[in-house]
Amino acid sequence: ESSKEKSLDLKGKHWIVTAGPTQEKLDPVRYFTNRSSGKMGYAIAEAAARFGAEVTLVSGPTTLETPTGVERIDIESAEDMYREVMQRYEAADVVVKAAAVADYRPEQSTEHKIKKSQEALTVTFVRNPDILKTLGQQKKKQILVGFAAETDNLERYAMEKLDKKHLDMIVANNVGATDSGFAVDTNRVTLFYKNGKKRALELMSKQNVAIELCYEIGKLLKSRDA
Ligand code: CTP
Ligand code: CA
Repeated sequence: ESSKEKSLDLKGKHWIVTAGPTQEKLDPVRYFTNRSSGKMGYAIAEAAARFGAEVTLVSGPTTLETPTGVERIDIESAEDMYREVMQRYEAADVVVKAAAVADYRPEQSTEHKIKKSQEALTVTFVRNPDILKTLGQQKKKQILVGFAAETDNLERYAMEKLDKKHLDMIVANNVGATDSGFAVDTNRVTLFYKNGKKRALELMSKQNVAIELCYEIGKLLKSRDA
């Protein structure tokens, strides 16, 4: 593509990016969580801000630094993330949900540390709100982008999520592979679109995946505003 086609100006666009894991509390010293370094989401927030967008990063606990020019909201649980995202949804042009949201939380979290008095401990989990699905249901003009991290049946599961959550695009990656997924700096993803199109990106750094995603979302914004 020519450099002209590759230019991108996101000035005036409000982006919400979610990143990192959520932590679901059991007692004051224990929680359940998902595997996620937050690298992919932070890279997207950074790239979008560099292209001029106003970016709010709603982040679970990570060890990463806040990207330049990005407003960061720290959360712990999926319910916290739900609240922070929904509150900003109406004003948003784009929501990118790169976070690894815990599907379940302990039904109860205790104020006092649980002592090891019994031989076995049973924890009942209840479902967390599906943030992205709710965004899809309440969608007006926003461009909605989800992620699907799968170990098998990547294409089928990704397409199902695209459809079920009313997304414009889903970024699918095979977390079973060693060169994509957790804690590594590279990623190999395939993009699936609402119109049935699909685009496989080659193996590249998460920074470059983020830049490619910005271009793709830029095109979606353009056709939305056309
Ligand atoms: N997601 C979300 N809220 C949840 C769970 C997931 O917003 N409670 C978002 C994720 O951030 C991701 C997308 O939904 O962008 C897909 O997440 P994933 O875990 O792959 O799918 P689920 O719908 O949770 O289905 P399952 O875990 O059973 O594959
Ligand atoms: Ca899930």
